[in-house]
Amino acid sequence: MLLLTKSTGFIEGEDDGLDPKEVKQLRARLLRIGPEQFIHETLTVAKIPPPLLGTAFGINPLFAQQLGEDMFVRVLGSAIVRTYYKRRKLPGYNTIDDAAELLKKCSNIMVITGAGISTSLGIPDFRSKETGFYSKLRDMGFSEPEEVFDIYSFDEDPSTFYELAADIIPDLKRYSPTHAFIRLLQNKGRLQTNYTQNIDNLEELAGITKDRLIQCHGSFATATCRKCKYKVKGTDIFPDIRAKRVSYCKRCIHRIKRQESLEPKSKKRKPTPSRSRTSSDDDDEDDNIPQPGVMKPDITFFGEQLPDDFFTRFTDQDVNTVDLVLVIGTSLKVAPVSDMPNYLPHHVPHIFVSREPIQHVDFDIQLLGNCDDVVVELARRAGWSLKHEMVDDNVKMNVDGVEEAEHIWVVKKEGKVSGSSNGEGQNGAGAARADVSGSRNIERTAER
Ligand code: OAD
Repeated sequence: MLLLTKSTGFIEGEDDGLDPKEVKQLRARLLRIGPEQFIHETLTVAKIPPPLLGTAFGINPLFAQQLGEDMFVRVLGSAIVRTYYKRRKLPGYNTIDDAAELLKKCSNIMVITGAGISTSLGIPDFRSKETGFYSKLRDMGFSEPEEVFDIYSFDEDPSTFYELAADIIPDLKRYSPTHAFIRLLQNKGRLQTNYTQNIDNLEELAGITKDRLIQCHGSFATATCRKCKYKVKGTDIFPDIRAKRVSYCKRCIHRIKRQESLEPKSKKRKPTPSRSRTSSDDDDEDDNIPQPGVMKPDITFFGEQLPDDFFTRFTDQDVNTVDLVLVIGTSLKVAPVSDMPNYLPHHVPHIFVSREPIQHVDFDIQLLGNCDDVVVELARRAGWSLKHEMVDDNVKMNVDGVEEAEHIWVVKKEGKVSGSSNGEGQNGAGAARADVSGSRNIERTAER
């Protein structure tokens, strides 16, 4: 059954793994018999050395030495389980017309969105190579830009976040054609839930109702004191964010002042917010100088739990009823949102719309280009009218196939200079668009 050519567990380097034919056979076997029996069959019965088996699941055998046997087997086990549950492309859906048909046919659509749906408004995304927020941070010398959104880093020194957040706070009274498209799905009674990773709150402005919107990473709509949990409207801390100064809790400051006014004069100390001390409850006991808490916008930082409604909505309502998944403008690199396709029934079709293709999730149809252009074309093919000030009804879209991939399509405005009419030039959409205009580039830009 198994074509294993190597039987010793001694592997020198990552090139010493199984050959592609063996990998294919092993994976096919896993899908047929399930992870439990597969693990029994391969590790217990056939006694395939775990480091060797690991190469079939993308695990570098050298990890075996670093992790030790027990830990390595656990990592291998979870890789096997992930592979088993990973969604696979459905063969029946491939073209942009298939996508339009699905939109017309399905009435419980899940839309998962990311920063790419707001870039045409001038808000940077995070990971675009030259224009993303993280690339800017890298240029400023941050080697780990994601740390700006790390809760432990924030508690240690909130000033970094406050120095940089001005770039991403919402300052807009308009939304993109893609937001309008999602609202169109809602108006047509087809939108079941919009899971957005965005914190700009523009879905609300576009008219997507609260009962259909899950803000997976929270939003700037409110802010909370890290110390006393006092909640305020997000806009209350915007002046501090714009002035690049740490915002402190007014209630804490008020309390400290009141407390001081009751104390004998000699003991009085002006509360001087320290840059690096924030949420620790024992601050006061440590040095007797009361400190106000730092306000944190209620966006979900790395290291924080996603809002409860993300999990309840997904598991109690959506997982069993959704009939189409439309993922727009996200690199799908941040869990748990990136795992959502794997937890939905595998027969539910998945469409991906973004500038860059991805390989770590198997979508049925990938429509590459500026999402505003793609949704205009989808709406047109579905026979719907998408009205928006940035949509020019006279502009035609080109839809080109990509070599050797019958389900990947590049959608581009016909004969228009990129970024000329809708502000996309502000965030480098023109440059990114060049990246999707051919099959060679698709190979180059895929990161996983
Ligand atoms: P990313 O920046 O990771 O991905 C945005 C994707 O959208 C990129 O792949 C772009 O190529 C694509 N894109 C940009 N503009 C586009 C356009 N006009 N049309 C089509 N595609 C476009 O942003 P997210 O996936 O949203 O977390 O990032 C997920 C999370 O990572 C964010 O919520 C943020 C970040 O760390 C927090 O802030 C907590």
